[in-house]
Amino acid sequence: IYDCYRLNNGVMNPCLGFGTYRASDGDDCEVVKTAIEAGYRYFDTASFYGNERQIGRALAESGIAREEYFLTSKAWRTEMGYGNIRKAFMESLERLQTDYLDLYLIHWPLPEDGFTQWRRLDTESWRALEELYHEGKARAIGVSNFLPYHIENLLENCDVEPAVNQIEFHPGYTQEVTVRYCQEHEILVQAWSPMGRSKVLKEPAILEMAGRYGVTAAQICLRYALQRGIVPLPKSSSMDRMKQNQDIFGFALSEEDMYILGTMPQTGWSGQHPEKFGR
Ligand code: A2P
Repeated sequence: IYDCYRLNNGVMNPCLGFGTYRASDGDDCEVVKTAIEAGYRYFDTASFYGNERQIGRALAESGIAREEYFLTSKAWRTEMGYGNIRKAFMESLERLQTDYLDLYLIHWPLPEDGFTQWRRLDTESWRALEELYHEGKARAIGVSNFLPYHIENLLENCDVEPAVNQIEFHPGYTQEVTVRYCQEHEILVQAWSPMGRSKVLKEPAILEMAGRYGVTAAQICLRYALQRGIVPLPKSSSMDRMKQNQDIFGFALSEEDMYILGTMPQTGWSGQHPEKFGR
């Protein structure tokens, strides 16, 4: 239903998706059912979120054909390494009630205790993703929360280049070095917490802009990602806000406002690890 980006392997990635972190408690998949009803056809999850089974059930019960929706999952830190990744992937498939994923990501780069260790393990994990890709089980593969030097390590050693890097991105945390690096290497950037976990929605500058465009602060943030060529993955638990968050195609931010949004004080959560380039 939306425009798509063409990934570096030709797969079409819709330009807006639904984030599902903390989207469900226990057996409840109401949020995902509501999101499906609100029109979302692109769901971003991860084994770590603990909600794949609920999402799988909601999608199965919706009766929507598999090729009608785009599904991403991710391998968690404890699932790294060749054998572990393959096992983790198969378990995700089983929980999601599907026989392929549209996109499979390494959730986080490994911690840097032991310099050569993380390089070797990241590369080894990546080899498992490449196999899943070649087998057609994952239509595209990529990474999440990777800084340029993590990606560099993969590019030096890989056969299939990552198609995506999913990072924290919102006004107030725009990770310019990483975004530029990815965009120069044909790696599509996706934004988790595109509204800065709703913190950013109280920024006076954003509220002022929202007033001028006749939209909400959330729509300003999502439109900002869109105009940067970045895929926003907003989360919400309410039907109204789910709909509002998809309604970002009827206005355009001026160059000046894009500049203001890109130069706000940087206070993101991933900022705990400073951006580094090379080592
Ligand atoms: P809610 O579930 O009550 O809608 P992010 O995706 O940046 O991490 O932000 C998620 C948070 O933003 C959630 O707490 C969600 O709360 C809130 N949120 C989502 N959409 C909107 C919106 N359109 N307006 C205000 N808050 C929103």
